Amino acid sequence: MSRLPIIAGNWKMNNTVKETKALLTELLPLVKDAACEIVICVPYTSIAAAKKLMRGTNVKLGAENVHWAEKGAFTGEISADMLKELKVAYVIIGHSERRQYFGETDETVNKRVKAALSRKLKPIICVGETLAERESGRTDEVVIGQTKGAFDGIAKRELKNIVIAYEPVWAIGTGRTATADDADNTIAVIRKAVKKLYGSAAAEDIRIQYGGSMNAKNADELMAKPNIDGGLIGGASLKAVDFAKIVSAAK
Ligand code: 13P
Repeated sequence: MSRLPIIAGNWKMNNTVKETKALLTELLPLVKDAACEIVICVPYTSIAAAKKLMRGTNVKLGAENVHWAEKGAFTGEISADMLKELKVAYVIIGHSERRQYFGETDETVNKRVKAALSRKLKPIICVGETLAERESGRTDEVVIGQTKGAFDGIAKRELKNIVIAYEPVWAIGTGRTATADDADNTIAVIRKAVKKLYGSAAAEDIRIQYGGSMNAKNADELMAKPNIDGGLIGGASLKAVDFAKIVSAAK
């Protein structure tokens, strides 16, 4: 298997510019010899400062969302061109917090994915079931549906530019991690959904991360699983030492 692991931090609505500078100044030297790809997704207001500090390092810059329109009357939104101009490489799309609090649907996720790809931004597409869905035995159905929805109309050649993050909603910020086996199994289900859409080679090549209370302690066990190609890290990405430990678990 030749998938390069990818560890991404999702800072969410944390860190002012001043805090961004402090955290990155501490973090960048700690991860400079990493054996995986590293991305830090920061709030829009921190993008410029983060980019400056990341220049010449092995850490790539990500944003936390992107709008689907090129421009126009969408107060509070940010376009793919705006992110591209600031040399953003990756963008999180369809995070469960967006789905839960901001009305994101599979359809809007798909539109954002298309907009990102059209400007050569690499989407990190989030999928994952809620606790109620899990308890009613619908996990597979939900992640398959979200995967299909996100990839609707996306050409096979784009797959190399896309990362999927499996984030069970009940595991986000709760300290409750999916067991490594459960995470691995559901990621295998997502991979199978990609196979159905694009064939075996594409499914083998696409990177699928786990996210949800991944931390310095459980990263080794999760990363040891054959289907888990990295992590999308919330809380633990706000502490340089913890995030660096997770990075070192990805080999
Ligand atoms: P936590 O790592 O804080 O659970 O957040 C995960 C997440 O939502 C990353 O996108």
